[in-house]
Amino acid sequence: MRLRGATALVTGASRDLGRHFAEELLRRGAAKVYATARRPELVDLPGAEVLALDVTEPASVAAAAAAAGDVDLLVNNAGVSLGVNLVDGDLDEIRLTLDTHVYGTLAMIRAFAPVLAENGGGAILNVLSVLSFQPYDGNNAYAVAKSAEWSLTNGVRLELADQGTLVTGLVFGPTATTTMRAFAERAALAGGALPDGVLNDPVDIVRTALDGVESGRTEILADHFATAAKSSLAGDPRAFVVETAGETA
Ligand SMILES: NC(=O)c1ccc[n+]([C@@H]2O[C@H](COP(=O)([O-])OP(=O)(O)OC[C@H]3O[C@@H](n4cnc5c(N)ncnc54)[C@H](OP(=O)(O)O)[C@@H]3O)[C@@H](O)[C@H]2O)c1
Repeated sequence: MRLRGATALVTGASRDLGRHFAEELLRRGAAKVYATARRPELVDLPGAEVLALDVTEPASVAAAAAAAGDVDLLVNNAGVSLGVNLVDGDLDEIRLTLDTHVYGTLAMIRAFAPVLAENGGGAILNVLSVLSFQPYDGNNAYAVAKSAEWSLTNGVRLELADQGTLVTGLVFGPTATTTMRAFAERAALAGGALPDGVLNDPVDIVRTALDGVESGRTEILADHFATAAKSSLAGDPRAFVVETAGETA
């Protein structure tokens, strides 16, 4: 898909990867970029159209689709990473994780599929994770959500093929954002993984992702964590680990 002249909508654009997506789309010549956020007052991006959007609120999603009928690229980036496990984690936090990544992404796709069809097909980019392919003790609710989001991505790709919509999944590992830095600090305090220098630069991930969309890719394994995680699916489940600079977490 050609990004120059496109009209894009990015969820969770108040900071970090979402903000970088919106900024890079503008840099590549998108005609319009809707930078959406739960708290639109936090969006500070000259040139972007700011829109209020909570992906877990049906009325908010419907209002965004009504307001942004010119979109031909939807970037489902919004997410939470609450560090919750499945067996003893808070069930409301597990539900919020699934609501955001799975039902939130699905709600956006259902609302915007007719918009994309009307605008010639366009593309959807779903921001997945290495934890789409691996569990992670300490954040297993997130892994379940990202795994379901991967499957959702693959299913929707089939369902929207006839209307010519490219549906792309972006897979990558630990990246220097607010949430990941906080996690890395906690892990380091506990003597855990994620030593200095292991985190991706979010700008690199965003550029790799948008290069992939421009060249029509359906799945983008954006770093060595993603390549390793995908190939680990064929291995022994006991070997599921996230590699961090030669160590495991
Ligand atoms: N950082 C990593 O290492 C990493 C690795 C793989 C995948 N990812 C994925 O990359 C995406 C972005 O992550 P990030 O690290 O940039 O996270 P982040 O810094 O925590 O930012 C998340 C963004 O999502 C927004 N958001 C959360 N819930 C929302 C909702 N219900 N409706 C609308 N917006 C909502 C947040 O807005 P508020 O300001 O309102 O909270 C924030 O703008 C996520 O899907 C994440 O799972 C991240």
